[in-house]
Amino acid sequence: MHDRAHPEGVTAVIGAMDEELEALLDDLEERREGSHGPFTVHFGRLEGRAVALARCGVGKVNAAALTQAVLTLGAVRLVFTGVAGALRPGLEVGDVVISKDAVQHDLDVRPLGYRLGEVPGETWSWEVDPRLAELALAAAGELGGVRAVLGRVASGDVFVADPARARALRDAFAADCAEMEGAAAAQVCAKWGVPFVIIRSISDTAGHDAEVDFRSFTPLAAARAKRVVSGILRRLP
Ligand code: ADE
Repeated sequence: MHDRAHPEGVTAVIGAMDEELEALLDDLEERREGSHGPFTVHFGRLEGRAVALARCGVGKVNAAALTQAVLTLGAVRLVFTGVAGALRPGLEVGDVVISKDAVQHDLDVRPLGYRLGEVPGETWSWEVDPRLAELALAAAGELGGVRAVLGRVASGDVFVADPARARALRDAFAADCAEMEGAAAAQVCAKWGVPFVIIRSISDTAGHDAEVDFRSFTPLAAARAKRVVSGILRRLP
């Protein structure tokens, strides 16, 4: 994955579902496919930058497995893109959350004295690469009329569709949005010392209407997240 024509190195751009990646795939130039275990990785150029695009499937295990695969292939940074349920009051469908950090809300070793979400011997929150966050904020700023915030992404193997559960997550973690993969990718990136950022656009508010809203608004939200990802790539030095 080392490419003399692209001294900035290869950026892995991954997402859970086809809908979260297809607009990026449509724009991919010099496209070629590679098969890596269970994953198809689409190599090429986006905004003139070398990228590896791939879909991991839903959930933390899938995210960790694909992250490991793309880092093994030599990706030097990772952008996770997709949609999320809002937890922060006031966040609305189409708003964009750029990770300041990510937590695993369903990881619980409290009986052994650890904090909720803490991986023993590691941490309870994985911090974004500040430079990538800055590029993401600048990219979102150019979208015009789109609200973008730096926030905490809470990941777990749960589709949150219950206002009480959403509130509990907000209270326990001060989390801004809920999704199902980002922190797992972040944890693997941290192990490798590879910078990451998670870009999530809001598809629903994780309450009673979450399922219907998710189905209705995922295309719009995924398109927003995609534009931020393109803007990050364009801004890479
Ligand atoms: N992704 C999008 N909406 C979500 C929700 N409500 N819970 C978990 N992941 C999501």
